[in-house]
Amino acid sequence: MTSRAWPGIIERYREFLPVSAKTPVVTLLEGNTPLVPAPRLAEATDPSLKVYMKCEGFNPTGSFKDRGMTMAISKALEAGSRAVICASTGNTSASAAAFAARAGIAAFVMVPRGGVALGKLSQAAIHGARVLMVEGSFDQALAIVTQIAERYPVTLVNSINPFRLEGQKTGAFEIVDQLGRAPDYHLIPVGNAGNITAYWRGYKEYHRAGHAKELPRMVGFQAAGAAPIYEDRVIPEPRTVATAIKIGNPANWGLAVEAKKDSDGWIDVVTDEEILHAYRLLAREEGIFMEPASAASVAGLIKSVKAGRFERGATLVLTLTGHGLKDPDTALESASRPTTVPAELGAVLAQLGF
Ligand code: F0G
Repeated sequence: MTSRAWPGIIERYREFLPVSAKTPVVTLLEGNTPLVPAPRLAEATDPSLKVYMKCEGFNPTGSFKDRGMTMAISKALEAGSRAVICASTGNTSASAAAFAARAGIAAFVMVPRGGVALGKLSQAAIHGARVLMVEGSFDQALAIVTQIAERYPVTLVNSINPFRLEGQKTGAFEIVDQLGRAPDYHLIPVGNAGNITAYWRGYKEYHRAGHAKELPRMVGFQAAGAAPIYEDRVIPEPRTVATAIKIGNPANWGLAVEAKKDSDGWIDVVTDEEILHAYRLLAREEGIFMEPASAASVAGLIKSVKAGRFERGATLVLTLTGHGLKDPDTALESASRPTTVPAELGAVLAQLGF
């Protein structure tokens, strides 16, 4: 009898991935994340649209990075590596730390000081990674770890590592499997520009294999203060409340531009104000708590609908990249604070307005 339990993305999509019978699969059973309909988002924008959210925050470490990390760590182990290294705005480091722990190898992570959400930092720490906070940007940290990986016996697991994108492309496979077709548009936040590239690759491969008749237009959103691709220039000091995508010189810049062009899509910007508005809307109207960077997809939906960019009745999928619990500080700053009351019925009733 074959097991029906979800086996993780490598076993599920093995034929599409560069693994062999010899590859030691390191998995936390990532993937198989829900594709949740978003009727309230459609109502608030254009009720004729069919909007779905691919909730990647429900992966084992709370972000889409786990899809790429199961591949990167399995291949590192296959090659005999005993240590991995990455620069990160937080989620890559959390995922690398967890999968390295699972594999029994060391993880070194470099994050920008003051630029990483609390939950992500706590994950890297508890999984036993060596965490260095660089007094500089993500882009500077990435340049340093890239040099280290060139000279020392440690595997780079940023999305420059080709296996990362191979794993991440399975997000597109799942969407087609869940929806029974590819969407007309795929909306996604863009930081280091790996994920938009990976999804496009996934859609193309599934299309070629006959699993989908359609190909979506890829639509990426950068934060307005951190929009190197949109502005077509390196941003030396990127700024945004969405720290996950606070990146001024993305590693996969060229590939993301290609994905946009090949798919006849576009890359736009959303302001911090728009991101925070979308972040609250998602939590309050749809009951989905994702981190601010993920809300860039939702902010982008609102902006694009206003600009009349989708035809009536179109099917849209938004990747919501990371869980809201990653960044509790921004959640508390964006909502009304809890009220302290004495432990007396009268006082509580007065507060509740009964
Ligand atoms: N959303 C979240 C929650 C992320 O953590 C990231 C990237 C992105 C979107 C953007 O994806 O880089 O593939 O374009 N986070 C990386 C990190 C940079 O270090 O965790 P991308």
